[in-house]
Amino acid sequence: MVHSSLDLKKIFKHITDGVVRYMGFTTAIFFMLDKKRTRFEVKALTTRKGLLTLINTVGGISIKNFSIPAELTLNAAIRSAMNGQTVVVKTLEEIVYPLISKKRCADLQKLGKTKTLIILPLENDGEVIGGVFITSKQEEILEEELEMIKSFSHAASNAIKNADLHQQVKNAYEETRLSQEALHLSESKCSILFESIPDPVFILDKKTRHFLDCNKAALDRYGYTLKELKTKTPYDLHPVEDFAALDEHISNETDFSPHQYTQITKRGERLQVEIHSAPLEYEGEEAWISIIRDITLHKQAEAEIKRSHEELKKLAAHLQTIREEERTLVAYELHDDIGQGLSALKMDLYMLEEKFLKGENLSARFQKTKDLLDNMIQTIRKIYTDLRPTLLEHFSIKEVIEDHVDKFQDLTKIKSECEIDLGETRLEEGFSLALFRIVQEALNNVKWHSQATKVTVKLVKENNHIELKIEDNGIGIKVADLKRPSSFGIIGMRERASLLGGKLDVRAVPNKGTSVLVHFPL
Ligand SMILES: Nc1ncnc2c1ncn2[C@@H]1O[C@H](COP(=O)(O)OP(=O)(O)O)[C@@H](O)[C@H]1O
Ligand SMILES: [Mg+2]
Repeated sequence: MVHSSLDLKKIFKHITDGVVRYMGFTTAIFFMLDKKRTRFEVKALTTRKGLLTLINTVGGISIKNFSIPAELTLNAAIRSAMNGQTVVVKTLEEIVYPLISKKRCADLQKLGKTKTLIILPLENDGEVIGGVFITSKQEEILEEELEMIKSFSHAASNAIKNADLHQQVKNAYEETRLSQEALHLSESKCSILFESIPDPVFILDKKTRHFLDCNKAALDRYGYTLKELKTKTPYDLHPVEDFAALDEHISNETDFSPHQYTQITKRGERLQVEIHSAPLEYEGEEAWISIIRDITLHKQAEAEIKRSHEELKKLAAHLQTIREEERTLVAYELHDDIGQGLSALKMDLYMLEEKFLKGENLSARFQKTKDLLDNMIQTIRKIYTDLRPTLLEHFSIKEVIEDHVDKFQDLTKIKSECEIDLGETRLEEGFSLALFRIVQEALNNVKWHSQATKVTVKLVKENNHIELKIEDNGIGIKVADLKRPSSFGIIGMRERASLLGGKLDVRAVPNKGTSVLVHFPL
């Protein structure tokens, strides 16, 4: 019975009960080392009827809560017991002094009519872990009785061992249960995490290279159902030209750095992706986990930046060329018109001087010279207004554009209309200049490329933006022309617009015409 029960407290109580009730002892107390191994505490106790209360009151102690320090210094009897010896003494004092005063010891002993006291140590693996304390009214304890008690304490030791073992099993079981619970918890946590990752995640069988699983993001992005996907391999998501690189990536056991690929969805959409992969054990199989980052937009933006960078580079070179061309033009004009004019003036002055000295009539000659000067002044004005429309310093953008459009009509014979209404809005000079340059370039294009018979320039202020539109009825600009990197006129207009926070759009209908639209937020 002792062996089979695993409840130590019950076992101890059986022993103390047995000792008192069936063997005629007066008191039996079971002590055990506490968990911290610093004190022996009472674990079970049985006394003759009524004795307990008496002991408590007379002894001034509570036996149930009585404990003995585990240090070996207390007294000789305890020291012997701690060394594993059975101790038989005649006075209580020998055992509990100095924990209990000598007087109290004597009183207690008298009360229980105690003649003999025994301590039986309780050992586990050669170490004393407790003991049974027994009192008797008899002077002598029989050898058989001692043996009997020893066998009890032996049984108790076994029970303790069993209980330990049981506790270990229980602990191990508890640990397994907890770790299983933790596993379960971490599995469900993992699966929540897996599902909630916004990037597509695939799990791939390393041997067959079939997909084993994927998250919701993957199904959404690639358009397959999980069932469909499980019949596929990564090759089904990649274009043929990527196969070799993909092969190498999958078979590489050491390089886990991200790789960039093109992937194709079920809908045929091409994605630019960055794949981060790592090996993993999945349901006991060697597998790969791949997290897919969609970098399509990123790549597009990158290409866009590269393209506009290229455009700007070309534009800068073009601007440089234009500058040179303009310089050459100015130089020609200075040389041809001003230079020639000044030479002519100089010759006129010599002639006038000659004629003046001869006393001839000079009025006709003076008139010719004045005309020459007028021509030169005109030329100079043309040069500097071409260089910079100074008109804007003195006139509003409305007046300057209207003037320009009028002149354009005179020059090209293309019917040109103007609708300008900015209300009370006064534009900054830089802004006006940009608008004017766009109008100038757009009209130039109309003149050179459109074959139009009519053009309208419209500049109006809407609620919170300014809209500029130059619309012709010509052959319509071709998409290819629009995208040509050498279309500097259009690139220049677009750049000017974007420098002012605006957006330029060119629309065309073949043989119906072209419209250049600029939208500036205010
Ligand atoms: N209004 C228009 N109608 C038809 N074609 C046009 C028009 N404007 C521009 N284009 C076409 O677009 C090309 C690019 O224009 P642009 O960038 O101004 O360059 P450029 O005028 O120096 O040729 C032109 O060469 C022409 O073929
Ligand atoms: Mg042009």
